Amino acid sequence: MSHLTDKARAPYRGEAGGLPGPDSLEAIVAENPTRRTLLRNGLFGLSVIPAMALAACDDDGNPIVTVPPTPTPSPTPTPTPPPSFAISFAAVAANQDDRVTVPDGYTADVLLKAGDSVEAGTPYSGSFPASPAVAEKWAGGGHDGMEYFALPEVDANTRGLLAMNYEYPDFNILMAGDYDPAAASADQKAIALSAVGIGVVEIAKGGDGKWTVQAGSTYNRRYTGNSSYRAGGPAAGLLSGSIKGMLNNCSSGRTPWNTYLTCEETMDNYLDPAQPETNYGWVVEIDPLRELAVPTKRTAMGRFNHENVAFMASTDRRVAFYMGDDTTPGCIYKFVPDRAYSDTNRAANTDLLDYGTLYVARFNGDGTGEWRALVVGENGLTAGALDPGNTSQSTTPPTPTTVDFNNQADVLIKCQQAARVAGGTVMDRPEWLTVAPDNSAIFCTLTNNSGRRVADPANPRIRNLHGHILKFSEEGDSPLATKFSWEIFLSAGDPALAAGGSNLVGDIEGDTFSSPDGLRIDPQGRMWVQTDHSVPGSSGVDGTTIDGTFGHNAMFYVDQQNKQSKRFLVGPLGCEITGLAYTPDLTTFFVNIQHPTGDWPVAGEAPRSSTIVVRRTDSQPVGN
Ligand code: FEO
Ligand code: CA
Ligand code: CA
Repeated sequence: MSHLTDKARAPYRGEAGGLPGPDSLEAIVAENPTRRTLLRNGLFGLSVIPAMALAACDDDGNPIVTVPPTPTPSPTPTPTPPPSFAISFAAVAANQDDRVTVPDGYTADVLLKAGDSVEAGTPYSGSFPASPAVAEKWAGGGHDGMEYFALPEVDANTRGLLAMNYEYPDFNILMAGDYDPAAASADQKAIALSAVGIGVVEIAKGGDGKWTVQAGSTYNRRYTGNSSYRAGGPAAGLLSGSIKGMLNNCSSGRTPWNTYLTCEETMDNYLDPAQPETNYGWVVEIDPLRELAVPTKRTAMGRFNHENVAFMASTDRRVAFYMGDDTTPGCIYKFVPDRAYSDTNRAANTDLLDYGTLYVARFNGDGTGEWRALVVGENGLTAGALDPGNTSQSTTPPTPTTVDFNNQADVLIKCQQAARVAGGTVMDRPEWLTVAPDNSAIFCTLTNNSGRRVADPANPRIRNLHGHILKFSEEGDSPLATKFSWEIFLSAGDPALAAGGSNLVGDIEGDTFSSPDGLRIDPQGRMWVQTDHSVPGSSGVDGTTIDGTFGHNAMFYVDQQNKQSKRFLVGPLGCEITGLAYTPDLTTFFVNIQHPTGDWPVAGEAPRSSTIVVRRTDSQPVGN
């Protein structure tokens, strides 16, 4: 989580109904006339009927077959060379500039700032919102995870939908002073809640290569901390019938049937503490096309401080969803639906995430691992179970506490305790997971845990200030496996910090970093790492700041074979870098800049979390 949400949550630790069905063709066209041509071409443009099939009959009823003339041979076209996905960009240097730095030959354009319009209305222009209704239509704040979705019959390399998370309000554009939920007026509370949740925007690439939000698109939609959500799955009956809001939407994921999975990285509503806590801490499934279910909290996937979701699918359409609990410390989970998904009938997947088995990962010292089912009655999950607590943060073990797991809803709502009872390994704040395209490996960023006092093989550093990345492989590369093998892929740090002890050095080859957070292996198998070291933060060496060692938070390419790291992008003052989505041809990368504090993105205006578009000026794939 960002340091802002961590601070806001500290005191609290211890419109969905009847969304329209598929948008009608006429509604889409009315909002966006250019779509008519695209849709028409998509529906009819490819229906070329072979001339041989167009047979009439002669007077005797015998078919007359018209043989087309022999075509004149045309010259053999020069084949277009396939695009290169080689990594050949010139790495950028660590810096503390108040701007986005990208390699030579690249551009970075701002696409959507906090306060820009998502739904039609008056955007932020230097004044606080006049009412909650105004802010409710804006892009929220703390831009984080996002996914890019194709539209039916549209070239996704030039137009599509971007769904993105808003983790935390950019309060500096919303209201004066600090937000205090205990003292906030109803309007202030509603304004704060308007700035979390998600936004969906239709975006398109213009002739100049620049991407813009398509104002007025019927797909543009906000889902906020004030909207209503339903719950599905085994614990649904214990949640409110109509849940007010989702929040702390940190990172995200998608399903193979192209719905968006947005993750609540909080187990209480710290912006509106009057709400029941059990309503929060879930994965929420939202269909950006608005064809399937209304936004639904999927309780079968467990309640914890969800970071992201990454799926692995087999050729027979079985799927596992991998998830991290960004807690100090937290466990790694996977959820396996009972059924294969359908790739021919999207609607058949509507409730797929309500039925399945949730597992927690246990990392053994010999490099093996196992998935332990979080099912009532199994692995010690019974009434009167003993939770060992967080055993990593003190050399004096905590006193175990008694927890009752009387049914599966208990297991899911008290998921962190269930995971520890079942023997799950408590990890150094699991942030993103990502799955290699060939299913051969899964990677997880363990961002840091400066409070760790008891090491274990998978979390080998006490006072883990800079974090590490874990790699594991499922038995048989199967999403259904219950066993895996694992290794530490990379330990973050910098040799310049050796004076503070070997724990701070790490083993990164090339450009070093601290606190890996965002993590994605793109469809060409290339790994991208985004960082979130706290600013200000400790490097571990007195007199040396963390920015002084690593520069501003940044994004890196990391070679999975030789672990060579190349710095690709550096963010402006005070931000974290997070969120990564791309077009299918990988010529356009979408990246989020969260909570900047300087004079960015617009000079002379309040700093705002923003989505940027990164691309090569010669339109070749990113990475070249
Ligand atoms: Fe919202 Fe764990 O980062
Ligand atoms: Ca983080
Ligand atoms: Ca994160």
